[in-house]
Amino acid sequence: MPLHKIILDCDPGHDDAMAILLALGNPNIELVAVTTVVGNQTLEKVTHNARAILEFAGAKQIPIAAGCTRPLVRAIQNAAEVHGISGLDGTNLPEPTIPLDKRHAVDLIIDTIKANPPKTITLVPIGGLTNIALAVRKAPEITELVKEVVLMGGGYHTGNRSAVSEFNIAIDPEAAHIVFNEKWPLTMVGLDLTHQARPDDRIMAEIAALKTPISEFVVRSLNYYTAGYRQRSGRSDHAPVHDPCAVAYLIDPSIIDTQKAPVNIELQGALTTGMTVTDFRSQATTDCHTQVATKLDNPKLWAMFIDSLKRLDK
Ligand code: BDR
Ligand code: CA
Repeated sequence: MPLHKIILDCDPGHDDAMAILLALGNPNIELVAVTTVVGNQTLEKVTHNARAILEFAGAKQIPIAAGCTRPLVRAIQNAAEVHGISGLDGTNLPEPTIPLDKRHAVDLIIDTIKANPPKTITLVPIGGLTNIALAVRKAPEITELVKEVVLMGGGYHTGNRSAVSEFNIAIDPEAAHIVFNEKWPLTMVGLDLTHQARPDDRIMAEIAALKTPISEFVVRSLNYYTAGYRQRSGRSDHAPVHDPCAVAYLIDPSIIDTQKAPVNIELQGALTTGMTVTDFRSQATTDCHTQVATKLDNPKLWAMFIDSLKRLDK
């Protein structure tokens, strides 16, 4: 498996935390920078959470920078009903001490891409796309320099913020419009895929049995996250864990099926703003720079995740 150097742009968030741990523990991923963006909670809170997770996992050396405090055009919306007041409710990580990089996230993204050979850095946005959109507007040359963009967001058949829009796209659709229309190779790991990414009681027991500080954090996180999901949905299964799927695709693309299709963002719909309109008509896929994730090998995802947790605790 090749080594992927990634910039993770995130808004932790319980599932963002899982994505960070998956990336940190996997030998095929080098996390070269973490950047934060308003989303699940305020920028201040998600940045605090990102610092706390990195420090807790022993990754003090990774540059981390705070980004945009609000979306490009629209008012701030958060996901307190999912992730709580802190963004990581149900957990109790120690107060972080690691410093923030002094640069704005947009500048850390641009600088990191330019400091590395062309086509070696992959962008992995797992929150709203505000930072990425501004980075490409500030330094348009990065479109040619990044290797690819693999993002968690959107969905071609379903939504969670509305019937047809997913949270990361819905909170900043104008930013998403910019990012999806740049000509870089882009993989949308959307809800159609991430709704397949659920632990079960056996997997939760396997994680708990590791009995390490990190596994305890994971169990607390996912228990809180699933309890809220069950209350809101009336379902009894475990909540889908969205964000690690984007990282998992890079680690082992064979666990996720994809299909090429143009994707555009609805900006003006009375009912559909933020929808990732995906055109599966076959003639539309010629020269297509976007693809969407369709099918997940869920057992392999969790085996990969548990492997990361074991390596982090060595
Ligand atoms: C996305 O929304 C956020 O609440 C999660 O962290 C994830 O990135 C799922 O729709
Ligand atoms: Ca997220």
